[in-house]
Amino acid sequence: MLIDKKTKHMKAGVLASGRGSNLQALLNAAKTGSLGVRFVGVGSDNAEAEALGRAEQAGVPTRAFPLALFSSRQEQERAVMFWFEELEAELLILAGYMRILSERFIRDIGCPIINIHPALLPSFPGLNAQRQALTAGVRYSGCTVHYVDAGTDTGPIILQQIVPVYEEDTEETLAERILQEEHLLLPEAVRLIAAGKVRLEGRRVRIEREA
Ligand code: GRF
Repeated sequence: MLIDKKTKHMKAGVLASGRGSNLQALLNAAKTGSLGVRFVGVGSDNAEAEALGRAEQAGVPTRAFPLALFSSRQEQERAVMFWFEELEAELLILAGYMRILSERFIRDIGCPIINIHPALLPSFPGLNAQRQALTAGVRYSGCTVHYVDAGTDTGPIILQQIVPVYEEDTEETLAERILQEEHLLLPEAVRLIAAGKVRLEGRRVRIEREA
């Protein structure tokens, strides 16, 4: 008897504003089939984002939502939301999306949203996280994948990875060291979510151990 080994993949959407190296890490991981996710669309607020080209290259539908084309920020968000609803996204991944999503968007989109941040939250939320880490003089920083809530980088933490900070580091060298880890951490978080291993209990995230 033939057994159908085709598993149902979770439909995921991505929002990215720039370079898209985290998106690329996700697309690469998805290609191997081990991610458990099918990318249904990559959107951006920046029509020039390198991320859009990377998605096209991988055959993933893209759409740009530049603020200038809309009468307000709310209208732009509404268009983004309708698009992902149309695509039936079951997970929305922010991979370097440089806009804060409104409370209404987060509530109404009807699927979980996750974000990757280049610091060990709750330290150094917001912009220039690597510069904040250097200014504070910490010996370790890292990256965090977290659920998105109405605050800036304040949602429940899913995974974190530590990275050392060296005295000779510049913003660029630290960012690069953290980025290498981001490219592993984000696909791992997505894989765990798609496999149904991640549960939210209040503000704490429980991850089911794997055999
Ligand atoms: C990453 O450092 C990510 O943590 C932050 O924005 C940067 C995006 O880089 N949110 P890329 O566009 O994925 O290369």
